[in-house]
Amino acid sequence: MSFNGYKDKIEEGDRVILYLTISNVYSIQAVAKTLNKKGVEVDNVFQTPYGAIKCIDLIGKCYGSKISLSKGWGYVLQPTPELWTLTLPHRTQIIYTPDISMIILQLEIFPGSVVIESGTGSGSLSHALIRAIKPTGHLYTFDFHEVRTQTVLQEFKDHGLSDYVSVIKQDVCMVGFGEELNGKADAIFLDLPLPWKAISHSVKVLKKPGGRICSFSPCIEQVQKTCTELSEWGFQEIETMEVLQTQYSVQTKNLPVMNLDFLKTKRNNDNPDEKRERENKSMLTCIAPSQMPGHTGYLTFATLYPT
Ligand SMILES: C[S@@+](CC[C@H](N)C(=O)[O-])C[C@H]1O[C@@H](n2cnc3c(N)ncnc32)[C@H](O)[C@@H]1O
Repeated sequence: MSFNGYKDKIEEGDRVILYLTISNVYSIQAVAKTLNKKGVEVDNVFQTPYGAIKCIDLIGKCYGSKISLSKGWGYVLQPTPELWTLTLPHRTQIIYTPDISMIILQLEIFPGSVVIESGTGSGSLSHALIRAIKPTGHLYTFDFHEVRTQTVLQEFKDHGLSDYVSVIKQDVCMVGFGEELNGKADAIFLDLPLPWKAISHSVKVLKKPGGRICSFSPCIEQVQKTCTELSEWGFQEIETMEVLQTQYSVQTKNLPVMNLDFLKTKRNNDNPDEKRERENKSMLTCIAPSQMPGHTGYLTFATLYPT
């Protein structure tokens, strides 16, 4: 499957990213049939603002190729964790790419790492973690919600990622992560409403010395409780940060440009009225966003050393 390595052509069952415009990106599965709301098998047709697409027609097309729709065109792309985060079906709030980048960097996750995550939610972060730890590492992802664990398990299977991930249905605040993982994890990531209740359990499964933890929380009160608990359990280098991405737009604009010849002629008293000090020129430039990006959450990191 295309999540697990690149391939040239779309095969039956592949997850494909349909890119129409920057704000019209979709994920579709290249299968001929699907079930409608009544549970009846029907042709798998995907509707877009630029026309409908029969998913079976994608099979055999080259990844990256342009496809025609009745009112426009688009591109069919290989799925990546970044594109999956943009297009996945939301079953919960999810972690987005700017935070994911910081989490993977700060948790020092690399191929071969053993990582624990809770909760799994919609599997947005999980896909990026799996790519980072492949091919020799493993992700243990915990969620206490039955349907979410079943759904994400099927997604990992469909995406060819089952070998790198174990999905466990468990309340990590009540019972922790299980004795078999004691001392095995290089890193732990918590995206829970009450993360401070999972800190004592995290201490058991993290490698000592040097195991890293990250907790994502939208509210500062959650951060305060988590930091207090981390400190009580001997974590060090406790640090909280917020990642705010500023995305510039590249556009061609008419901009005033200083006319240096004018300044020279002005100095020489050479027809100063014929030229202007500034001229408008069409230039490729970057436009800063008119609004600041919204708050997603605080990331708290810490390291476990033997005390
Ligand atoms: C916000 S979602 C996680 C989203 C995920 N990080 C993503 O990027 O898709 C939080 C998840 O934590 C799970 N959860 C909450 N409390 C839990 C607990 N005590 N043990 C296990 N899972 C829990 C919820 O069921 C929910 O699916």
